[in-house]
Amino acid sequence: MTEKIDCVRVALGARSYDVRIGAGLLARAGAEIAPLLHRRRVAVLTDETVAATHLDGLRAGLGDIAVTALALPAGEATKGWPQFARAVDWLLAEKVERRDIVVALGGGVIGDLAGFAAAVLRRGVRFVQIPTTLLAQVDSSVGGKTGINSVHGKNLIGAFHQPSLVLADIGVLDTLPARDFLSGYGEVVKYGLLGDAGFFDWLEANGPALAAGDMAARQHAVRRSVEMKARIVERDETEEGDRALLNLGHTFCHALEAATGYSGRLLHGEGVAIGCALAFELSQRLGLCSQEAPSRVRAHLKAMGMKCDLADIPGDLPGPEALMALMAQDKKVVDGRLRFILARGIGEAFVASDVDAAVVTRLLEDALSRR
Ligand code: NAD
Ligand code: GLY
Repeated sequence: MTEKIDCVRVALGARSYDVRIGAGLLARAGAEIAPLLHRRRVAVLTDETVAATHLDGLRAGLGDIAVTALALPAGEATKGWPQFARAVDWLLAEKVERRDIVVALGGGVIGDLAGFAAAVLRRGVRFVQIPTTLLAQVDSSVGGKTGINSVHGKNLIGAFHQPSLVLADIGVLDTLPARDFLSGYGEVVKYGLLGDAGFFDWLEANGPALAAGDMAARQHAVRRSVEMKARIVERDETEEGDRALLNLGHTFCHALEAATGYSGRLLHGEGVAIGCALAFELSQRLGLCSQEAPSRVRAHLKAMGMKCDLADIPGDLPGPEALMALMAQDKKVVDGRLRFILARGIGEAFVASDVDAAVVTRLLEDALSRR
């Protein structure tokens, strides 16, 4: 039986590309990628966990296309200068040329790092994203944000570099640990919350089946998320305006990730889910949305077994002032003013450029006191 493959086009003029979504794409990667190749050879960057489970499948799918591969350690700590330098030097040692293709096989860590390596290698080579986590399929593989973390904060070093193709094989998510799947679900919920109340309704009804492995639900959730991201990126590729909506929950999330040392204490999508709940609570405190909205957000996250408040983060957290200081390092700070994505209701997010810091501090104090 032929698997159903959806295709979402990201229309960016000369930088346009397709995001292909469906089960079985890894097995046909050769046919998908071949039209992009000048010579039948690709360099694959991946991580050790993904290499152990899916690199052989990709090699088989690439058929007679020669494959050279480097597996980096798995985890967020890889997304920094040392492993980045290693990856770029390896690509040079492998004699990857300007017209070659780099393949990113992995989650958001590998996609971001490999995309940035492709962006700077010989002043820019093309790359293909093969995202293997739910988070990477619905978010990080699409839109061309690439980069690494700094000791000063998350994603502070990077470039916009669009992939030439994205192959989102939803079958590879079968091997994803439940915690990583739910972390990715944090980004899926974000799309409903920021711009599609109907999708949030659908998630409330279908989220449990999706998490339990329902493939039709998985395909729908990935496709709808990618469609929403693609339309936003088309309107605002380099985040001058609307693209900031995709950062719903992220100002809180990035501060919490820094506060927990980018460790297993808090995964990125978990931070996004908590951040979305806090952003809705902030919106309600600012009189922008009803009390019902943040309650509904938290109720859905809880029903999915997800973290939804600071109390759900294990271990110590710094106080509200320290968290505020971490937020001030965020890229969304403009002229020293905190920019937040707030909401008038579910599916109605907007960019607020001058949020009263005192209200945010009180929100954090209250959230910390619930721990
Ligand atoms: P990740 O890449 O660390 O992957 C999570 C874990 O799952 C890793 O241990 C990995 O080895 C493992 N894994 C991956 N695929 C697997 C599979 N199919 N089966 C079994 N294990 C598998 O983390 P992530 O959650 O995918 O991505 C988080 C990163 O993405 C963060 O660095 C975040 O900043 C970034 N991000 C970037 C963007 C963007 O637009 N560029 C958007 C959102 C998030
Ligand atoms: N994940 C945020 C963005 O791509 O803009």
